[in-house]
Amino acid sequence: MADKRAKHEHPVWLITGAAGFIGANLVRLLLERDIAHVVALDNMAYPAVPENVRALRGHPGFTLVEGDLRCSETLYSLFRSARPDAVINLAAQSHVDRSIEAADGFVETNVLGTQRLLDASRRELEQHSADRRHRFRFLQVSTDEVFGSLDDGEPPFTVGSPYRPNSPYAASKAGADHLVYAARHTHGLATLICHCTNNYGPRQHPEKLIPLAICNALAGRPIPLYGDGRQRRDWLAVEDHCEGLVAALERGVPDGASGGRYVFGSGRDRSNLEVLELLCTLLDTRRPEGAPHARLITPVSDRPGHDRRYAVDPTATSHELEWRPTTVFSEGLARTVDWYLDNPGWIEAALDGERSNWISRHYAEFDMAGRERVKS
Ligand code: TYD
Repeated sequence: MADKRAKHEHPVWLITGAAGFIGANLVRLLLERDIAHVVALDNMAYPAVPENVRALRGHPGFTLVEGDLRCSETLYSLFRSARPDAVINLAAQSHVDRSIEAADGFVETNVLGTQRLLDASRRELEQHSADRRHRFRFLQVSTDEVFGSLDDGEPPFTVGSPYRPNSPYAASKAGADHLVYAARHTHGLATLICHCTNNYGPRQHPEKLIPLAICNALAGRPIPLYGDGRQRRDWLAVEDHCEGLVAALERGVPDGASGGRYVFGSGRDRSNLEVLELLCTLLDTRRPEGAPHARLITPVSDRPGHDRRYAVDPTATSHELEWRPTTVFSEGLARTVDWYLDNPGWIEAALDGERSNWISRHYAEFDMAGRERVKS
């Protein structure tokens, strides 16, 4: 790969997990706004959806490297040729249900992958001037799930909240965050960590609540609601999250007031049942022949260790980064529904092979007519 710096005045941003949900949305934003030259790294295996970056191939501001985050040689040669000014680590396995079933892949990608990326960043920077080392940023995209679960009425999480991860997924992300701190403290790498709430929007893997509900509703299949459906999540439009990531890279200060840590959320949490009911209402107006779609909402037995509530207080982050979410949930959800309705080919590609096998296997465990997990 040629040195992009010679051809572009823009900074070079290396985005791992670029064919995933948040990665693909971030790449689009950067290219549309002409903010940075994007070097995208993805191994194109689950949970990536190759379709997410297919149309971007050939774009002059975009270079796609198919490779594994855990392979040091791949990373070293990528850093030598691309010479990134910033790394945004979005490569992660993120589905809690899968992490409950098998956590190994989460440890390998989320923990080991992050360490390999930190090592490659450090090794590359050692060969550069103090000024370039000073300007370089390593942005770790984390989650509010590292803080554990809130009870109703408890104040939302801030960057000062203690780490209390509950699921194997959250624990793997917490482990990765600690390695990022260690790289800063021990080696002086200029790191930033962003904790976002649940994202929604186009291109999200159909195993997650909102796209799963849309796909099932369109097919007339049950929409599984875990437990009592009163668990609460703060849903952030992926576009707002991506704006936040850009703001963090442009205005975040590793040793600033918040220690280079930021929380992104919409500022309001809702129950899963409330989200599904709104979603079904939106589908009713668009697909009246299937109405009322809410009849498909089916309570099933709960996820083991299911976190009750996630919420963050983004006030300090909004102030420090001059960022605020602008999407009204009902409008963002309507746009999301429309995107999935308009892109049946994407859904088919995303559910290709093993990607759909897991979903069928997982939900086959439930007796969809009742609340019990079917015992084998
Ligand atoms: P999910 O999208 O898996 O995100 P997370 O677990 O990281 O918050 O799930 C969002 C919420 O929806 C969570 O409380 C679990 C619940 N849920 C269901 O009720 N049914 C489902 O089929 C899925 C996938 C999730």
